[in-house]
Amino acid sequence: MDKTEELLNRAYECIEKNKDKVNRDYYRLKYHIMPPVGLLNDPNGFIEMNGEYHLFYQFHPFDTKHGLKFWGHVKSRDLVNWEELPIALAPSMWYETHGCYSGSAVNNNGTLTLIYTGNVKDSEGNRETYQCLALSEDGINFIKYEGNPVIHNQPLGYTRHFRDPKVWRNGQDWYMVIGAQSEKLEGRALIFKSRDLTEWSFIGEAAGSNIDSTGYLGYMWECPDIFNLNGKDVLITCPQGIEPVGDLYNNIYQAGYFVGKLDYKTGRLKHGDFIELDRGFEFYAPQTTLDSKGRRLLVAWMGLPEEEDHPTVENGWIHALTIPRVLELRDNKIYQSPVEEMKLLRKNHVAYSDILIDNDEIELEKVEGDVLELIAEFELFDSLEFGIMLRCSEDGNEKTIISYDASEGKLKLDRNKSGKGYGGIRRCTLRDARKIKFNIFMDTSSLEIFINDGEEVFTSRIYPDKDSKGIKFFSKNGKVRLIRLDKWELRY
Ligand code: FRU
Repeated sequence: MDKTEELLNRAYECIEKNKDKVNRDYYRLKYHIMPPVGLLNDPNGFIEMNGEYHLFYQFHPFDTKHGLKFWGHVKSRDLVNWEELPIALAPSMWYETHGCYSGSAVNNNGTLTLIYTGNVKDSEGNRETYQCLALSEDGINFIKYEGNPVIHNQPLGYTRHFRDPKVWRNGQDWYMVIGAQSEKLEGRALIFKSRDLTEWSFIGEAAGSNIDSTGYLGYMWECPDIFNLNGKDVLITCPQGIEPVGDLYNNIYQAGYFVGKLDYKTGRLKHGDFIELDRGFEFYAPQTTLDSKGRRLLVAWMGLPEEEDHPTVENGWIHALTIPRVLELRDNKIYQSPVEEMKLLRKNHVAYSDILIDNDEIELEKVEGDVLELIAEFELFDSLEFGIMLRCSEDGNEKTIISYDASEGKLKLDRNKSGKGYGGIRRCTLRDARKIKFNIFMDTSSLEIFINDGEEVFTSRIYPDKDSKGIKFFSKNGKVRLIRLDKWELRY
């Protein structure tokens, strides 16, 4: 038996052995991509090809901790119904002994081509990092390129923290942006260029910590992505090592973006400030793709590195991906909306309109549940704080609160009483808070809350009791009008 077969057999045995326990878990999500067992982290290789969306993910089948990474694989025609496919990559070669790390996918003349990082650590813990290709003609079976690796370690001036290639085409050439660390231990996004995906030349630094007026932005940048959005160039990156500043950078590592103009000759991105993509607790390593409808789609890991004790661990699995979102640039800011296709899941519509809430807490008939979508639009009068309590228990002890605090001028997500798991509060400001529209996607153990048509998003895992299904709308010290409320159960 060769190494690939041996690793795959072990992985499938592990899936078989644990899947009943995993599937009995109430916290298994109903419309999100999850690992069949074990751990999932970054989305990888997001691409639409031949009318199908392929999505891969960092997958550790043997444990709920990080370890030997494979590439899990799912595909879909509509971005909501996903089919599980065989594992795409197993770390079987000398250039990936410690994992097939993150990367991307391109359509190279009809060949689905994955570009990923082979991670190697020697017995002293020294790292080698190799960029590799894997090719598929049928979109299911992948063959590693015989000339692998196509990039051996890092260019001069950088450390071996060099990984997560994202490749795109510009004119006749392929370009790669890759996460790196300078020898001064500053995060970098580097640009490479190639004619044929196999021979790469280093062009330069797109951006980095302490470059130009950027200021210190961490010691390592993971999972960069570059694309054009509404006429501007956007660099998404995940810096590690930024300290919290007030409401900003409160998660262990960040995921955010710069808007600017990329010079394809020098590789340099002239850009504005770093802006976080999400205001919630679990959001990392996003990856985008351009689909045939011309949409820039984004999917992220609904988790964070070093958060390894979620309550699902006792049931043999951890983490999930976000729902796909569409990006748009307005006034140099990214707006994110759930893809239209999410509407395919809607059923049993319940609607209300024009309800005045005056220093009160109200419940609405048939508005409760755990797997649903809500649209709630409020108009502020003189309330000091208003919003929605989700996943409320009968006794009132459990609840997750999304609210607008008019005295502070801030939106808040409070999961201190959400049940099991991590607590905390996350806050952000809004451009205009006279009207606030919440579009909430709730799954058994997750929340994705889009505010004012995607100006901000709060993405988080929560672990309430399965019977905590109450929903309450409230206003403190004053009045607010609930202009409209729509609720759908989501089909699964
Ligand atoms: C980000 C990351 C990547 C790496 C992968 C390994 O979460 O650390 O930099 O390629 O995860 O699983």
